[in-house]
Amino acid sequence: MADAPGSGLEAEPLKGEEAEGGVSKKKSCSEKLGLPHLTGWRTAALLLSLLLCLAVVFTFSFILPCPVRPQYFSTWNHTLPDAATYDFLAVEDTNEDKVLDVLFIYKDSEASRNTCLSEDFSIPCLVLTAVDGTDGKALWERPLAAELDWVECGVKGLGRQGTGCLVAHADNLTAVDKKTGVVRWQRSRSTVLNGNLPLISIQDLNADKADDFAILSYNPDATSFTSVPSELVFFSGQSGDQIGLKVNVDLYEVFGHQQFRTASGAPYLLLLTKSGLYAVSLRHLTALAGLKSELKEEKSWKEKSDKTTGLISLYQSDSLKRVMVVPGTSSPSLLVQTNSSVSLLHTDKLKMAWSTNTSDLLSVPTFGQFDKDGIPDILIEEKIGRETKRVLVLSGSSGVILWEMNLLFWTPNPRPASVLTLNTYSVFMIWGRSPSHDNQTNQMHSSFLLHPRYSQLLLERRNPAQNIISFKATLFERGRHAGYLVLTGPDGREHAELSEMDPVILTKRKIKGDVPDSTVLRVGAESAVGEKEVKEAFYRLRFSDALF
Ligand SMILES: *[C@@H]1O[C@H](CO)[C@@H](O)[C@H](O)[C@H]1NC(C)=O
Ligand SMILES: *[C@@H]1O[C@H](CO)[C@@H](O)[C@H](O)[C@H]1NC(C)=O
Ligand SMILES: *[C@@H]1O[C@H](CO)[C@@H](O)[C@H](O)[C@H]1NC(C)=O
Ligand SMILES: *[C@@H]1O[C@H](CO)[C@@H](O)[C@H](O)[C@H]1NC(C)=O
Ligand SMILES: *[C@@H]1O[C@H](CO)[C@@H](O)[C@H](O)[C@H]1NC(C)=O
Repeated sequence: MADAPGSGLEAEPLKGEEAEGGVSKKKSCSEKLGLPHLTGWRTAALLLSLLLCLAVVFTFSFILPCPVRPQYFSTWNHTLPDAATYDFLAVEDTNEDKVLDVLFIYKDSEASRNTCLSEDFSIPCLVLTAVDGTDGKALWERPLAAELDWVECGVKGLGRQGTGCLVAHADNLTAVDKKTGVVRWQRSRSTVLNGNLPLISIQDLNADKADDFAILSYNPDATSFTSVPSELVFFSGQSGDQIGLKVNVDLYEVFGHQQFRTASGAPYLLLLTKSGLYAVSLRHLTALAGLKSELKEEKSWKEKSDKTTGLISLYQSDSLKRVMVVPGTSSPSLLVQTNSSVSLLHTDKLKMAWSTNTSDLLSVPTFGQFDKDGIPDILIEEKIGRETKRVLVLSGSSGVILWEMNLLFWTPNPRPASVLTLNTYSVFMIWGRSPSHDNQTNQMHSSFLLHPRYSQLLLERRNPAQNIISFKATLFERGRHAGYLVLTGPDGREHAELSEMDPVILTKRKIKGDVPDSTVLRVGAESAVGEKEVKEAFYRLRFSDALF
């Protein structure tokens, strides 16, 4: 295989500059050496320039400090006894050491930790925490009143600079600074109580130089007799105060939404309803709220929109399940999932590029590069039996099946992940159990690594069965250090008996660190490729931080 390790991104940037500087100086020295008939002062000049050259070289190599790269543990654990946790993991650099740190939230029931009591909250309370990506040590902890409704980090406009976390819990909406864990503001959320993670980020609307956001309320469980139209409220990111009027989005039976930017950068809100997919421009919504904005609109979409409601019908279906924006494509497309298919919708012409029949999907589809066409492919997991799933990779350009494999699953079934490499393909990580293993291994949960160029084999690493609440694979540093996070423990949404709580454990592992203790699982017919060859291909991987 032509897996030449990419040198560019893995090299240290400053070293590259040193080398170039050194070479050019040496060149100018040797040119001078070629001069004939050296007189005394010329020799002196030569020596002087030689000295100068040396001085420059020495300055670059010794005096200028090399950037200190943070040291990290390839594996670490963060353990919290007597706690429960939620399906939420965010990665952000909170302590500015250029290594991503991990934010998660847990419900603390242990009085001796004194986290809740320190802020006068009764036990249990919620604790939003950031742990250092290098060693898993806590950077800050922010106790908050229980119960949790939703939490989102990376929300623009909340911190003094950069981003913050927004937590909807108890009666309040709380903005937490990602660097310090300090509460920036706390406001009653009585106007926006419904819905799950209904958050939309928008550029500054109230001219305070901070991005603002909106919260959409919908009532997914309501029957058509009682349902209320969805409502949107705009908030100041800086202060948490409502800005403008509450907006009625004239649409019933909304059960999901997605923020979307068209190819020209116009921001839209996609609304999933029981009759299909709709879009409405944020410009239209801000105007209804009585706010002035410079937001763009897409011309071709505007022509299709309903004159009074501003709604654009993108796709009609009475079995819509999920809509995802395909990452990293120049003309944005949407992956549309119904109860029996996944399809790709091109948003410029509003045409379906392809549609593939599926049975029930067990997890959210995962994007990654499998073939060589540069268009993100899609990994899905179909339920085909009580305990059996079919893992498929669909071509992003045609929807045809590129790869498939049956595995056993358990609930909750962690969503697969992918990490892009410098060789323009991604490696995929899938959870499951191999069907061939006997009964004893039922107590094992395996993670599988899939290398698209060696797709006849999977690398299997067996782990003791744990209740995995959240899973994420990511690059912890630019161009290097691909790892994954597994959050296990009791589920905070299930209100378990407090006395019976197991610990919550957040584990970080390096992807390559799993290769030595993995075994090989053959996917299809026999192949000539051996275990050693596949493992070496994994060791050679160089990861890329580009999205796609
Ligand atoms: C993390 O926890 C697991 C299971 O509790 C244990 O097997 C492993 O050794 C721990 N790793 C580290 C680095 O502490
Ligand atoms: C909600 O926020 C207000 C204002 O900061 C605060 O006084 C109140 O205690 C908070 N309620 C809870 C349950 O945290
Ligand atoms: C999908 O949903 C439609 C409409 O709700 C229904 O008629 C159909 O039977 C469903 N198909 C499957 C495979 O569940
Ligand atoms: C996909 O499903 C539709 C409707 O159920 C059916 O008409 C079509 O033939 C199926 N396509 C394939 C390739 O199975
Ligand atoms: C698994 O266990 C069941 C009952 O305990 C037994 O009937 C079955 O033969 C076992 N299967 C294998 C593959 O060992």
